[in-house]
Amino acid sequence: MGDKGRTFIVLLGVPGAGKGTQARRLEEELGLPQISTGDIFRYNLKYETPLGLLAKGYMDAGDLVPDDVTIRMVADRLEQDDCVSGALMDGFPRNLIQAAAFDAMTAPYGGVTAAPLIHIEDEEAIQRITGRRVCRVCGAVYHIQFNPPQVSGVCDVDGGELYQRDDDKPETVRNRLYVYYKQTSPLVGYYFAKGLLREVDGAQSIEQVQATLLNVLAA
Ligand code: AP5
Ligand code: ZN
Repeated sequence: MGDKGRTFIVLLGVPGAGKGTQARRLEEELGLPQISTGDIFRYNLKYETPLGLLAKGYMDAGDLVPDDVTIRMVADRLEQDDCVSGALMDGFPRNLIQAAAFDAMTAPYGGVTAAPLIHIEDEEAIQRITGRRVCRVCGAVYHIQFNPPQVSGVCDVDGGELYQRDDDKPETVRNRLYVYYKQTSPLVGYYFAKGLLREVDGAQSIEQVQATLLNVLAA
């Protein structure tokens, strides 16, 4: 897909739209690694690294971690060997400054390939986020109603304990949506203007959303 041998897909959508769920499923299908800035911050938080401790206050409030920190982190991640064919970006870029930085990082490889927007209504997003549960061991994402594990509270993959993210509390979720509309939604216009936006109806089953994404990416 990429002009110069690399494919960079930027998944867009409100918190809870299904970016992480789809990125994990598409990794194998497209042969690209998922880069989730939220997951990298949560991993650092778990091990109480300086980066994790710095990110914690912002994440707990539902605000964005400062751009300089986030951009440097992504630039380092893209240097790793598994990114030789490109990457599936989940949660980055998240504002116009990050988008410009990402354009600069990917320019030598042909730039961004496509930016699919997974569209769902806000009410649906809130339902999805409040029912989400995540595996402590592998990070697999479930939903108590829409995508339940075989045994309640236990990961299907590795038997790990499922937990609720701290920022999935209702007060924080509202601010995350606010931050999305204020800071992240301008990216829809940004990628549309570049001819890279691909709109996908996210209010379908997980399998149907995946099939639609694969279709729009192949087009
Ligand atoms: P991040 O981890 O990126 O969170 P987010 O963008 O708010 O996205 P979510 O993880 O909430 O949603 P998702 O779209 O991945 O949905 P999911 O697949 O899980 O960011 C967290 C924080 O980190 C930020 O607030 C910020 O502080 C910081 N941060 C991260 N990146 C940053 C950046 N670039 N710059 C600055 N700060 C940054 O699905 C949701 C639920 O729905 C799940 O339970 C799932 O099972 C279910 N579900 C999924 N698809 C379907 C479907 N089709 N039907 C029914 N249920 C479904
Ligand atoms: Zn697991």
